[in-house]
Amino acid sequence: MTTILQIDSSARMQRSLTRRLSALFVESWRSHEPDARVIHRDLGQNPPVLVSEEWIAAAFTPPEERTPDMARVLALSDELIDELLVADLIVLGAPMYNYGLPAALKAWVDQVVRVGRTFSFDLARGDFPLRPMLTVKRLVVISSCGEFGFAPGGLRDGWNHLNPHVRTIATQLFGTPESHIHEIAVEYQEFKDDRHDRSLSDARERVVRLATELAQEMVSS
Ligand SMILES: Cc1cc2nc3c(=O)[nH]c(=O)nc-3n(C[C@H](O)[C@H](O)[C@H](O)COP(=O)(O)O)c2cc1C
Repeated sequence: MTTILQIDSSARMQRSLTRRLSALFVESWRSHEPDARVIHRDLGQNPPVLVSEEWIAAAFTPPEERTPDMARVLALSDELIDELLVADLIVLGAPMYNYGLPAALKAWVDQVVRVGRTFSFDLARGDFPLRPMLTVKRLVVISSCGEFGFAPGGLRDGWNHLNPHVRTIATQLFGTPESHIHEIAVEYQEFKDDRHDRSLSDARERVVRLATELAQEMVSS
């Protein structure tokens, strides 16, 4: 049975395109695997708290030496990490906010990247001391932006700091091979014209197709 971690990070609800598309992915998946387990983490509705000095001190204290206060500070982090560790696949709804990640999504990343739980650190490894302790097999990133032209050679080439950031997090911290990261984006949302309509309908088709392909591959393996 596949466990899907569905993460939504849009602050919008009904109007959110990324929410609609992450839900479409899950719905399409369930048409192939009705009993797939889906954990839904709604960061837009419930943004995680930011890490603090207390959080960092607690995270770097060995578990057996933590005080009850430290354990309390890390409780949300533990809950979010438990969800991440059981996920075979993450479907991530990630709107572009100010050319990057929504703050709620970045707060989630900061909560789940924790020494001894999701990564190990060893200077004996030389220039790359950090190593992920988990493997998220597949990551589906569904993004949406109001503008357009972020691809190489486009009008806004180099302005998209959302997808490259998520890719680095996934490859370096979640153990996901680059080839197992799938990106689907809607553009032109702010223009509300036929270019947007086409972009949205392409994204819908790609979401359904990708869910079908991945479900067939992962469920049969
Ligand atoms: C706070 C905020 C910041 C945004 N910043 C950008 C931006 O930098 N570039 C862009 O192309 N669109 C930007 N947009 C437009 C959103 O990316 C677009 O509305 C997208 O559809 C949001 O995802 P959602 O529909 O799932 O909420 C921004 C929207 C909001 C609300």
